[in-house]
Amino acid sequence: MKIEVVVMAAGKGTRMKSSKSKVLQELAKQPMLHHVLNAAKAVGASQTVVITGHQAEVVEAACGGYEGLSFARQEPQLGTGHAVQQAIPHLSDEGVTVVLSGDVPLTQPETIKQLVECSAGERMALLSIVLDDPTGYGRVVREGSHLDSLDNKGSVQAIVEHKDASDAIRAIQETYTGIMAAPTKLLKQWLQRLDNNNAQQEYYLTDVVKFAVADGVQVQAIQTQNAHEVAGVNSPVQLAALERAYQLQQANALLVQGVRLADPARFDLRGTVECGTDVEIDVGCVFEGNVKLGNNVTIGAHCVIANCDIADGVHIKAFSHIDGMDKPVTVGENAVVGPYARLRPGAVLAENVHIGNFVEVKNTKLGAGAKANHLSYLGDSDIGARTNYGAGVITANYDGVNKHKTVVGEDCRIGSNAVLVAPVTLGKKVTVGAGSAISKDVPNNMLVVARSRQTVIEGWKRPEKEDKKA
Ligand code: UD1
Ligand code: MG
Repeated sequence: MKIEVVVMAAGKGTRMKSSKSKVLQELAKQPMLHHVLNAAKAVGASQTVVITGHQAEVVEAACGGYEGLSFARQEPQLGTGHAVQQAIPHLSDEGVTVVLSGDVPLTQPETIKQLVECSAGERMALLSIVLDDPTGYGRVVREGSHLDSLDNKGSVQAIVEHKDASDAIRAIQETYTGIMAAPTKLLKQWLQRLDNNNAQQEYYLTDVVKFAVADGVQVQAIQTQNAHEVAGVNSPVQLAALERAYQLQQANALLVQGVRLADPARFDLRGTVECGTDVEIDVGCVFEGNVKLGNNVTIGAHCVIANCDIADGVHIKAFSHIDGMDKPVTVGENAVVGPYARLRPGAVLAENVHIGNFVEVKNTKLGAGAKANHLSYLGDSDIGARTNYGAGVITANYDGVNKHKTVVGEDCRIGSNAVLVAPVTLGKKVTVGAGSAISKDVPNNMLVVARSRQTVIEGWKRPEKEDKKA
């Protein structure tokens, strides 16, 4: 069955109180519209037509990277029916068209597939939900009693908008969600018959139901139990509520896989995470980009972890920030990172590396077992296996114009508070005296000290105040 999708995304979203278009407001760090386009992709839509209006250029530009996408502008915005009318020239004459909204980000692909199967290119299929308080929504009017709407599974006669509804119809609790699937060829014909003779003087998409019924086409409503998948976002409060619902859903999926989250309510995944067995994640962690965690990895509380590959047995301790967004970060087996460590783009740690508190690593490779445990900056370096950086060692990698490289061989010991002024190369087994400023290359096995000698002044008297004198 050929599936085409129309996404309504022309509305302004005044209540977001933001200069950014509503459909570009982010859920899990991705524009809401992308979530909808992802769902369209997941059901195998051959084409998706996005209806833009408010900030059309910006919205269209934000959809780069999606295939099979076209745009239709709706200016001015005269209602949902008018919005979908703009897609008519783009749609084919076969299969099913699914209508989605750019501000309803969590619609499940499985649900869309159900609607498509129900339509089968012959029927109209609506997604509905029974609400305790249906105020404001279009009501699904089924054959037979209006007042017994909860159990009434009779075929649908009409959708009546709240503002146009009688009290009897307003008593119906089954509401239209804004999501439908209809035979494309028929939908195009019905859309052309819409008028705006109603309370809001808008072209209602929902009026196509009347035409379907009049043409003898069956209209079925499938009820969803999942309020989040049909929830539209109109305000920051609603967006935040959906964000939490989405995060809880992702957290639960990981728990089911066997990942041990200390608290599923304090977990945020704004990308993808792939986990091995026996992974433990403490509270308050944020994952971004594509993250891979091997077996037996533990992540301490309040870590931010973006775009990185973390091997088996690694411990990332509390309050660490791993940022591989610009260039992935790799952490080798059984390495220990943190607490309070920062791994920046291009940090590559081999197995058993230890990076301790207040250590920043950027574009630097550390060989197996290398350690920098306290208060260091390691930038643009290549550090040999088992080399140890004392507290406070700094690579001076930037001369104000260019970045330069520091190469340190295996089994070196870099004394505390040393500065390695790049470009500089140290051989194997070099020992650097504490406090040295190293700006020239050092051969293998040498002790190098580059600081002024200690001088002891004998007989020196400390000045004292007059009244303290004996
Ligand atoms: C619509 C339905 C209503 C349903 C409700 C569910 C109609 C007439 N009514 O209500 O039955 O219960 O959704 O939320 O369809 N949009 C455009 N162009 C327009 C108007 C709207 O692109 O001219 C977009 C909006 O940006 C939004 C979506 O369409 O993404 C739905 O519009 P909205 O105003 O929220 O829906 P209602 O008309 O209130
Ligand atoms: Mg409206």
